[in-house]
Amino acid sequence: MSNDNVISILLVEDEDFDVRRVKGTIKLFSERLRIADTVSNGRAALELIHKNVDRYDVVILDYQISGGLKGEELIRLIREADPFVQIIVITKMTINVSDYEFANSLLKAGAFWYCTKYPGNIEEYIYQPTDFLLSIFNAYEKKKLEKHKLRSDRRLMQSVESMLEAKKLIGESKPMKELRESIEKYAKSEVNILITGGSGTGKELVAWNIHLKSRRKYEKFVPINCGSIPQELIESELFGYEKGSFTGAHGMKLGLFEVANHGTVFLDEVSELSPSAQVKLLRVIQEGEIDKIGRTGSLTVNVRVLAATNKNLASEVNDGRFREDLYYRLNVVPIDIVPLRQRGDDILLLFDYFLEFFSRDLGVSVPTVDAKAREILRNYRWPGNVRELRSVVQRLVLHCGEKITAKDVSNPMILTNPILTKDATKFEEMSGGQVLPLREMERVFRMRYFKYVRSISSSDSNAAEKLGLAPSNFYRMCKELGIK
Ligand SMILES: Nc1ncnc2c1ncn2[C@@H]1O[C@H](COP(=O)(O)OP(=O)(O)OP(=O)(O)O)[C@@H](O)[C@H]1O
Ligand SMILES: [Mg+2]
Repeated sequence: MSNDNVISILLVEDEDFDVRRVKGTIKLFSERLRIADTVSNGRAALELIHKNVDRYDVVILDYQISGGLKGEELIRLIREADPFVQIIVITKMTINVSDYEFANSLLKAGAFWYCTKYPGNIEEYIYQPTDFLLSIFNAYEKKKLEKHKLRSDRRLMQSVESMLEAKKLIGESKPMKELRESIEKYAKSEVNILITGGSGTGKELVAWNIHLKSRRKYEKFVPINCGSIPQELIESELFGYEKGSFTGAHGMKLGLFEVANHGTVFLDEVSELSPSAQVKLLRVIQEGEIDKIGRTGSLTVNVRVLAATNKNLASEVNDGRFREDLYYRLNVVPIDIVPLRQRGDDILLLFDYFLEFFSRDLGVSVPTVDAKAREILRNYRWPGNVRELRSVVQRLVLHCGEKITAKDVSNPMILTNPILTKDATKFEEMSGGQVLPLREMERVFRMRYFKYVRSISSSDSNAAEKLGLAPSNFYRMCKELGIK
């Protein structure tokens, strides 16, 4: 068994004379080096390694060994059996024969290094004993480093996995499945993504998921809410400043883009950026350079930009409030998150998820929810989307006991927006609060339904297809309804 002080060696050598010479050399450092086993062929060596993974730190392997299994093939098999063990090849070849090609093919097969046994004019030691011993110590250090790296990689991986679990996107509806597919598809690439959706739909959560599934997952994810930072501070927040660059700049300040270097920046409410911050942001995205206040020369950074907005950024561009060039840079790929009320049974899935979460958090047992209460929750409009649902559940867990009933959820303290029955709300909304003749109501319905279907279709012919209409009929009906 290897321990921190003694390096455990497996010697694979078939000539007694050379076994003696290797042992003689190693004896020079007997307090640090120990030959745990000696075997005379490749199969026996492999068998020992298979049986005792981690018993040996270093294998000293004669290149021209008897038996079929030897050389590069044996090196590869040993490394397969124990990926951390380091192999030092000893060879009879003289320096002139052991050329670059030879070394290269050994290293490629997975050897750590090689030493020449001959010219064998010294009986007790192998040729150049200090080089040989030094190689063993270096090989051991390499083994330790590789093990250490694996351990820290594993820790990082575990922390990414636990983050992904904490940032899990709940939902099995079609839009959520499509959302998950988009995340998988685009996360690995480096494209900038504009995430749109109403308030509380999960924009930041989606950004987190993209980051955690990207190549940047071990690096920082830096969220910035552009809407909550005063305009005059936003540039120094994003890009930082040097000491003394303006009155009051006592120290230097790292900008968030510097902090996020190699990672991901999430620009929330990106539409709120001032025109001059927009120019600077464009430069970071285009050139990977930031102009820090008070610094001569720019600074190079490598960040992926994910942005979010609940405004219609295209119309902000049309109205001249947002730079068009920046818009296209941010919106290489759009991801739109649908409102919660369009996600069907996801409402109840999320409800149950949060119910369990908050109950566990409070250390109480998960309350039961009666069918009527579920119906109300399922039909509610959820204007504040998942964020609203989350706080509704939080309030319910605090207020209710073991049972959640229709009465509990109808309590205006719980569902803060008024609930009407589903049908009544829809009719009232459509008819403007009056009762209309059937023909007129049908017209209102058609108009709204056509508009809705168009809004979720890629083109008019796609909308016609969704409605099961021939395109010509669809155009005619749109015209009759006065829809352009
Ligand atoms: N699909 C989901 N599964 C689980 N939790 C979700 C989901 N969507 C949103 N949440 C949770 O709901 C809350 C709001 O989500 P998030 O902050 O990502 O929304 P947002 O769109 O950024 O909101 P805002 O517009 O208010 O900034 C968070 O606590 C988030 O974890
Ligand atoms: Mg947000």
